[in-house]
Amino acid sequence: EYKRRKEMLRAHELAAKYYNHILMNTEHGKLGLRYLEERGISRITIEAFQLGYAPDAWDVLRKFLLKRGFAEELLFEAGLLSEAQNGKGRYFDKFRHRVMYPIHDAQGHVIGFGGRVLSKDSGPKYLNSPETPLFHKGRHLYNLHRARSTMRSEGRVLVLEGYMDVIAAYQAGVQNVVAVLGTALTNDHVRLLQRNVQEIVMMFDGDAAGQKAALRSAEVVKDADVKTRVATLPEGLDPDDFLKKYGKDAFVRAIQDNASSMTTFRILSMRKDYNLSTDVGREDYLKAVIQTVLTDVSSPMELEKQLKELSDEFGVSVDALDQEVRLAKKSAPAG
Ligand code: UTP
Ligand code: MN
Ligand code: MN
Ligand code: MN
Ligand code: MN
Repeated sequence: EYKRRKEMLRAHELAAKYYNHILMNTEHGKLGLRYLEERGISRITIEAFQLGYAPDAWDVLRKFLLKRGFAEELLFEAGLLSEAQNGKGRYFDKFRHRVMYPIHDAQGHVIGFGGRVLSKDSGPKYLNSPETPLFHKGRHLYNLHRARSTMRSEGRVLVLEGYMDVIAAYQAGVQNVVAVLGTALTNDHVRLLQRNVQEIVMMFDGDAAGQKAALRSAEVVKDADVKTRVATLPEGLDPDDFLKKYGKDAFVRAIQDNASSMTTFRILSMRKDYNLSTDVGREDYLKAVIQTVLTDVSSPMELEKQLKELSDEFGVSVDALDQEVRLAKKSAPAG
């Protein structure tokens, strides 16, 4: 209920402040600070994102919040504490020995955290808040509250995969960036974004997971009433890596000039499943593209453009392709 939610929000706000204090002002935090420095994150950026550090201890946050009158059970329900496996009712800090990234809702309240390990060998790379009354990962976007005014003035948002991708872009001066929280884009995300922009540009990591997330996201946005494009990155790089390697100008070009429409992206990404050096493979590919992608294209102009390109490349007339689209639409009515 309302009062409990407010308590949870207050606990999160205090926790973010406390983690940030530990990072910036204590001996324990030095490890975290060095980690962020090595990744090229400036003090100003650390403060802007309210980054923090959860020390390698069992109940630092627990003690801090209990002293301020919070009930353990509420902190557990809020995802800040974990329950001991054996003894019911015994709690300890959920986040330990991690760099902390507060996650805010659209109004700017802290509603959860992501916590990153400092070295590769200790557990999952990022631990995120569980689903709680405040936090639902499919409904929130990292950095939305900071990005919103630039999203509105530019009419465009850039959707990335990771916390560090957003932070690197922001530090480079690209402010209309958000990240999904370890999921593909959901309809809830699209609704949040649509209120603020006319165009969504998605840029997923240049790896198998990123490719998969991009395709799943493409399925989600294909019916949305907003222009969507996909910017692809060179193999093995994510936006943070790309910025470090090629700089801001190349990054902006990748967004503005080199992003393909969602339809083109879907068409191209089907290629790997067909052997285009054989007649049969080419025909199967074209049929599959028509069935699964072109029947979704509602704009006649966009459809014509895509048919022309396929016609040029595959030596089939636009007319024949158009007939196939009509047939496919008839046999599989809208949906
Ligand atoms: P990546 O594995 O691409 O991590 O996952 P990253 O963002 O590039 O992280 P760095 O650069 O190594 O620090 C992309 C996003 O997926 C979620 C996080 O939100 C992450 O930023 N993720 C990833 C998790 O939630 N848990 C994980 O263990 C890994
Ligand atoms: Mn929520
Ligand atoms: Mn990745
Ligand atoms: Mn990545
Ligand atoms: Mn990365």
